[in-house]
Amino acid sequence: MADPSSIEQPNHWRKRAVKAVIPAAGMATRFLPATKAVPKELLPVVDRPVLQYIVEEAARAGIDDILLVTGRGKTSMVDHFDRRPDLEAHLTAKGDTERLAAIQQPAELAEIYACRQPEPKGLGDAVTYAESHVGGESFAVLLGDEFMGEDDKLLPDMLDLQARTGGIVLAFIEVPWDEVSRYGIASVQPFESAGELETVQVTQLVEKPKPDQSPSNLAVVGRYVLPNAIFDAIRRTGPGAGGEIQLTDAMALLLSEGVPVHGVIFRGRRYDTGAPIGYLQAVVELACQRPGLGPAFRDWLTDFVKNEVVSGGDRKGGAN
Ligand code: G1P
Repeated sequence: MADPSSIEQPNHWRKRAVKAVIPAAGMATRFLPATKAVPKELLPVVDRPVLQYIVEEAARAGIDDILLVTGRGKTSMVDHFDRRPDLEAHLTAKGDTERLAAIQQPAELAEIYACRQPEPKGLGDAVTYAESHVGGESFAVLLGDEFMGEDDKLLPDMLDLQARTGGIVLAFIEVPWDEVSRYGIASVQPFESAGELETVQVTQLVEKPKPDQSPSNLAVVGRYVLPNAIFDAIRRTGPGAGGEIQLTDAMALLLSEGVPVHGVIFRGRRYDTGAPIGYLQAVVELACQRPGLGPAFRDWLTDFVKNEVVSGGDRKGGAN
């Protein structure tokens, strides 16, 4: 059983979590060979790596301390958030203030720390390496291959809800039934609805169910706010889906022991860069929006799509 004193009780305000953990030790087999030497979290989306969008999302939510759980061959992720005095001096000498600000910005977003997960044994296992860093507090977990639109308030809403309800706070999207086996899936009942914010109380959680055994098509997305009791729960959780230690299973254990689990229904823009199709969609969509680049890219894209439709997608060459 979870230690009752470590289970936060609902209905009294507590401190909003200020630390986040980004598990980023995976081998990214879906992107091989691109990710043989380059971490998938550093693949560029227009002009910055995926990981920078995630750290920016955390910083916008008031998180000022981020722990990257990295793995073998992935230390360049930490370099991206370090200063580069040689490059800064070079750009200063050239008077290139725009690029100078762009390379300084990642180091200014938050305090970045790193630790290593020696073997990729699952998301639950990765989170355990954060235990000493987060101390006794609640904390956020942001998965390293998805990020939300710049104008979406998902993470601040989740942090506020967790400060109010304690326990675990998740975020959900509805997915097609034939995709439920890619996600953690929940049964829920209505909790509160205020303005655009719709929240639910979770009654059941299951990792990657088969469609005919799934309790719903409400899928957990890669944002969590977790109480400290999760570490003990992960230690009491055996291998689950895929033979890995699953965070969902540890959360289900806490739920069964009376820890409140709430969720925010997310209706904003989610970029899922964990597989090539979602990565390419993120690149195209954000390129269309980027000032300076967007108008020219949209014009090219419009012509490209028209030509593709006319030619039935048979052309093998470039877009010209
Ligand atoms: C992980 C979690 C899963 C969650 C998903 C969101 O799965 O285990 O519960 O729904 O992230 O992207 P993964 O994508 O690592 O297989």
